Amino acid sequence: MLYYQNDQITIYNDSVLAIDSIPAGSVDLIVTSPPYNVSIDYNSHADDSTYEEYLAFSEQWMRRCYDWLKDDGRFCLNIPLDKNKGGQRSVGADFTQLARSIGFQYHATIIWNEGNISRRTAWGSWMSASAPFVIAPVELIVVLYKRQWKKISGTRQNDVTRAEFLEWTNGVWTFNGESKKRIGHPAPFPVELPRRCMKMFSYVGDTVLDPFLGSGTTLVACVQNNRKGIGIELDQRYSELAHRRIDVASIQQLKLLVEE
Ligand SMILES: C[S@@+](CC[C@H](N)C(=O)[O-])C[C@H]1O[C@@H](n2cnc3c(N)ncnc32)[C@H](O)[C@@H]1O
Repeated sequence: MLYYQNDQITIYNDSVLAIDSIPAGSVDLIVTSPPYNVSIDYNSHADDSTYEEYLAFSEQWMRRCYDWLKDDGRFCLNIPLDKNKGGQRSVGADFTQLARSIGFQYHATIIWNEGNISRRTAWGSWMSASAPFVIAPVELIVVLYKRQWKKISGTRQNDVTRAEFLEWTNGVWTFNGESKKRIGHPAPFPVELPRRCMKMFSYVGDTVLDPFLGSGTTLVACVQNNRKGIGIELDQRYSELAHRRIDVASIQQLKLLVEE
């Protein structure tokens, strides 16, 4: 169901599996962080299926993303490197494999070093080799594309600066995670994540989709960086939150324009 629309931003309060409003071959860039299946309490989505069910769900929504992308469209997938809650799993490797089996081409993996977030919840066996747990305090941004890496569609208008390009082409990105409390969502990423992805991998005016919109962070980055944005979110309260954050970001953008 269409929840909100202006000339730049569209929010659908719907399931990524059910929505039929996005034309095939219409999206330049997808930036998203799917549910991680680590029993996070989202209002409308059960985040505690078996790993096999989780991968089956992931295959379904990634197939849809594949269809929505243009031939030179890109896909930035933010996922954990691995997880140890409910058994050790190589999430990054499994998703990359799954994406390739759907037809996505692999480009790169960016390591996101989230300085302020401790993912450490258990050591397994403490100071003992019997069964210790190792966990890396990083997440991944797997960069994939549909058919060709070289971008031929779009405005060709770049907005990445020399300093940003130099820094971001190094595949270890270090910036802080976002506070759940500040945003009011159980698993938001910081605006810096979609900002970097869109400035590196899309042109000004391109269409960017986030099929798991959550609190609307990707669309906030679209407002701030002149991209068209489409978001899909299952939960109505998060769709509402996203709408509010977009309104605030739009007012801030207008103020910036007036001050210039
Ligand atoms: C990891 S969060 C995304 C957070 C987002 N990046 C942000 O910055 O707020 C995943 C979101 O996907 C939503 N979700 C779960 N299943 C969905 C589905 N089938 N279709 C659309 N959204 C879904 C959840 O409600 C949750 O808000």
